[in-house]
Amino acid sequence: MTATRNQKLLAWVQEVAGMCKPDDIVWCDGSPAEYDQMTNSLVKGGTFIRLNDEIRPNSFYCRSDPADVARVEEFTFICSENKDDAGPTNNWADAKEMKAKLRGLYDGCMQGRTMYVIPYSMGPIGSPIAKIGVEITDSAYVVVNMHIMARMGSQVLEVLGDSEDFVRGIHSVGAPLTDSNVQDVPWPCNASHKYITHYPETREIWSYGSGYGGNALLGKKCHALRIASVQARDEGWLAEHMLILKITSPEGEAKHIAAAFPSACGKTNLAMLEPTISGWKVETVGDDICWMKFGTDGRLHAINPEAGFFGVAPGTRMESNPNAIRTLAANSIFTNCAITPDGDVWWEEMTPEEPELVFDWLRRPWTPSCGRKAAHPNARFTTPARQCPVIAEEWEDPAGVPIDAILFGGRRATTIPLATEARNWNHGTFLGAVMSSEMTAAAAGTVGKLRRDPMAMLPFCGYHMGDYFAHWVKIGKSADASKLPKIFYVNWFRKNAEEKWLWPGFGDNSRVLKWVFERCQGVAAAKESAFGLVPTPESLDLKGLNITAEHLEVLLNADENALRGEIKDMRQHFAKFGDKMPKELVDELNTLEARLEKA
Ligand code: GTP
Ligand code: SPV
Ligand code: MN
Repeated sequence: MTATRNQKLLAWVQEVAGMCKPDDIVWCDGSPAEYDQMTNSLVKGGTFIRLNDEIRPNSFYCRSDPADVARVEEFTFICSENKDDAGPTNNWADAKEMKAKLRGLYDGCMQGRTMYVIPYSMGPIGSPIAKIGVEITDSAYVVVNMHIMARMGSQVLEVLGDSEDFVRGIHSVGAPLTDSNVQDVPWPCNASHKYITHYPETREIWSYGSGYGGNALLGKKCHALRIASVQARDEGWLAEHMLILKITSPEGEAKHIAAAFPSACGKTNLAMLEPTISGWKVETVGDDICWMKFGTDGRLHAINPEAGFFGVAPGTRMESNPNAIRTLAANSIFTNCAITPDGDVWWEEMTPEEPELVFDWLRRPWTPSCGRKAAHPNARFTTPARQCPVIAEEWEDPAGVPIDAILFGGRRATTIPLATEARNWNHGTFLGAVMSSEMTAAAAGTVGKLRRDPMAMLPFCGYHMGDYFAHWVKIGKSADASKLPKIFYVNWFRKNAEEKWLWPGFGDNSRVLKWVFERCQGVAAAKESAFGLVPTPESLDLKGLNITAEHLEVLLNADENALRGEIKDMRQHFAKFGDKMPKELVDELNTLEARLEKA
C-alpha cells in the first residue's frame, strides 16, 4: 500500500528500490500494531529475545555482530561539493565518486529482504522547529528503534504533503540474501565495507554496512547533527550534541540548561539526575541532541528533536541514575548487554552484587570470576523519553524552552576545574573550541586517548569546524548579550594520584548546577583564574558531602602549569583551521596565554 501522493518521494523510493532490488517494499505507519508485528518477527528470526514479561514487560534483548558495535568515525564522510567545506576534522570524499562506489555496493544489496520506508519527524510533528526525513532501510531492527527514537509514520507523511523538503536517507546493512535456502544471521552487517556518508548540499545520507546506533538510525547523528548543523549555519540557528534539562529552585524558579559533553561522557546522566541537595528539582527535556533558535523574545529556545533515549547501559544503576533505571522498566530494547538465566538484562555495575551467572554479549556463559566484561562497553538501551519519570512537562513544546546556560565538558583527569564560568560569549565559545576529552567506547578507536573535541561535535559537525566556530561567534554578535545563555566549562572526571575520582559526580552534580543557577541569578560568588571564573569553596553547596579541603582545592583549581603546557597544543589545534579560524577565538587564546604568564 502506498501511503502518500508525494510524487518526489514516490519517485525516489522507486529509484532506490530499483537499485537495491528488495523482495518487498513496506511503508511504515508507525502504529503500535506495526511495532508488535515487527518485534514478533524479529523474535522469530532470532535477532531478538523477548525478555521475561514479568520482570521487564514488552522488552527485547539483542546482540550485534562483534564487527558492528559502535560508530565508525574512520568510515564517516562529509561529501560536500567543495573539499574545503568539510574541513580538516572530517573525512571528505567527492560526492560523485562516493555515490558511484556506493551504487556498486547498493546494487542488489536488499535481495531477499524487505525494504522499509520510514517517514520521520525530528521534533514534535508539525512544530515550526521540527524537520522531516525519510529513511529507507533493509533493517527491521532499525525500524523498531526508530519507532522509539523519533516520531514516525503516517502522520509525518500527512504533514509532509507534497513538499520536497525532507532529508533523504538510504540505509542498508549490506548483506543480501541471494540464496533463499540460507537462513539469515541474527545481526546482518557487512564486516568489510562500512560507509556512513553525507551530502550536505542535497540533504542526503547514504549509509552502508552497519546496523548499529548512529550508523544506522539516520535521524539521530546523521540527520539531526551532521545535516542539521549545515542547515543551522545557513539559517542562523544551532544544532548541537547537547542534553537539555530544567532545574527548579526551592523557591520555584525554573531555568533551562543545555550541556555538550562528548559521547559517553555523562549527558544522559546529567539530564535526569536526582539532586542530592534538598528542595532542588531537575527534569529532563532531552539527553543527546539540542536544536536552538532565537525566539521573538531574542532568547535562544531549544527543542529535543528526538523521542527516545539511546543510552549507554554499562554503569547505569539505581544509585547513579535511578531515573534511567525507572525509564527502562518496560517497552525497551537492549543491545549488547548480558542476559540473565531468568530472562532479564544485566550489565556491569547494574546491581550492587554481581549475578552468579549470565550470558554475555558474545553468547558465552559469564561468571564474576571469569575476568571479562559481560556487556560490551558501548551496550545501549533504546527507551521512550515519555517513560522517564522526570520528563519535563514542556519537553514536547513546539516552541522549545528558553536556555539560560550552556555547559561544555569532557573527561579530564587533570588540569580542568570542576566548574569554570566564561567571562562572555566569545570566551565561552573559546572554551568550547579547545575542549578536550579522553576517548570512550562510543566510537571505534583508542579508549582513554585525549583528543580535542570542540563542543563535543568533532564527529558530528557536517562542515568546516573553522566555519562552525565562526558561526558560534556570529550567533553571539547577532544577539543582545544580556539575553544570551551564560557559558560554563565543567569537569566531573578529575582524578587523584591513585586514579580515583575526586568528585562523586551523578546526583552530586546538582551542586554544580545550583552554582550555575545562582551565577545566572547573580548571587553566587566566583573568583578569577586565568582560565575563567571558578567557584569559591564557600559558593558551592557541599552540605552532606564528604570531601576534604585538599581535594576541593584540587577540584577547583585551574592548573596553571598544566594549562601553560597546553597552549602550544591549542595553537596547533587552531592552526588546523587556517584562515577560517575566527580572530575572536585566537584573541581569546592570546588572552589566556597572557593571563597565564602573569599568574
Ligand atoms: P552518548 O549517548 O554516547 O552521547 O553519551 P552520554 O554523554 O549521554 O553519556 P552517559 O550519560 O550515558 O554516560 C556514560 C558514562 O559516563 C557512564 O559509564 C556513566 O557511568 C559515566 N558518568 C556519567 N556521569 C558521570 C559522573 O558524574 N561522574 C563519573 N565519574 N562518571 C559519570
Ligand atoms: C554517541 O555516540 O554520541 C551516541 C550514540 O549518542 S550513537 O547514536 O550511536 O551515535
Ligand atoms: Mn551522543
